[in-house]
Amino acid sequence: MHWSHSFYERQNALIDCYHAPIHPVHTALAARVTGHRGQPGTLLELGAGGGQFAVAAALAGHDVTALELMTGAGEHTRRLAAQHGTTVRTLTADFYTADPGGPFNAVCYWDGFGIGEDDEQRHLLSRVAGWLAAGGTAYVDVYTPWYWAHHAGFTRRTERYTQTYGFDADGCRMLDTYAPSGEEPFTQSLRCYSPADLRLLLPGTGLSLAEVWPGGAYDPRAGVYHPEVPLGECMMYVAVLEPA
Ligand SMILES: C[S@@+](CC[C@H](N)C(=O)[O-])C[C@H]1O[C@@H](n2cnc3c(N)ncnc32)[C@H](O)[C@@H]1O
Repeated sequence: MHWSHSFYERQNALIDCYHAPIHPVHTALAARVTGHRGQPGTLLELGAGGGQFAVAAALAGHDVTALELMTGAGEHTRRLAAQHGTTVRTLTADFYTADPGGPFNAVCYWDGFGIGEDDEQRHLLSRVAGWLAAGGTAYVDVYTPWYWAHHAGFTRRTERYTQTYGFDADGCRMLDTYAPSGEEPFTQSLRCYSPADLRLLLPGTGLSLAEVWPGGAYDPRAGVYHPEVPLGECMMYVAVLEPA
């Protein structure tokens, strides 16, 4: 079984990260996507986790389908939507094989791109191109090599687990390992791409890189997260992808 089929469930069981309420970051991101599109529309979110962005997007007027692999995440998303007086269509499925319907004006994938090898990323991007309506846009968070190479070695220790970041320089992948006390450690490994690398990945997928939106960076020494930093310093950027 691929590591991604167990990592996020184990991470959630350990730190309950996908059951959080909607954060202002989700609302701001939904507003940014809406602003970029000009108006709300049909929106597919891949790897939607606990649905916090999906619900924020529904509240911004989008007709949202949230696709997520984790058992129970769809139920949590629908409950969160109901708490906020809105609805989100949920689909518990694998984005490599699922048929989410569509076409969609926007496809979003936040914090997760790069779980596979390059061919798998290409396959997923081809599927995204096929889900987009004419004039549609995909918004994909992409991890940068520079931040994660620099961040390797950073360790967070709590009473229940130790979390350590690493970097596979040959494969250009960030490594994020949780070691719960008394249990086997488990790791996520995400392929990192600069915009130049991503442009090399895109030919044949039906998508091209239209814009790059730099994201934020966590400063482990100060223990502070800076939400907007230059591209050369950020943890990830949003790749704005349009039909080629
Ligand atoms: C790092 S989490 C991010 C969750 C959410 N996007 C967020 O920003 O809070 C990545 C998510 O992608 C989901 N995922 C991974 N592989 C998937 C697949 N093949 N199909 C659907 N979802 C998948 C995981 O279960 C996990 O919830």
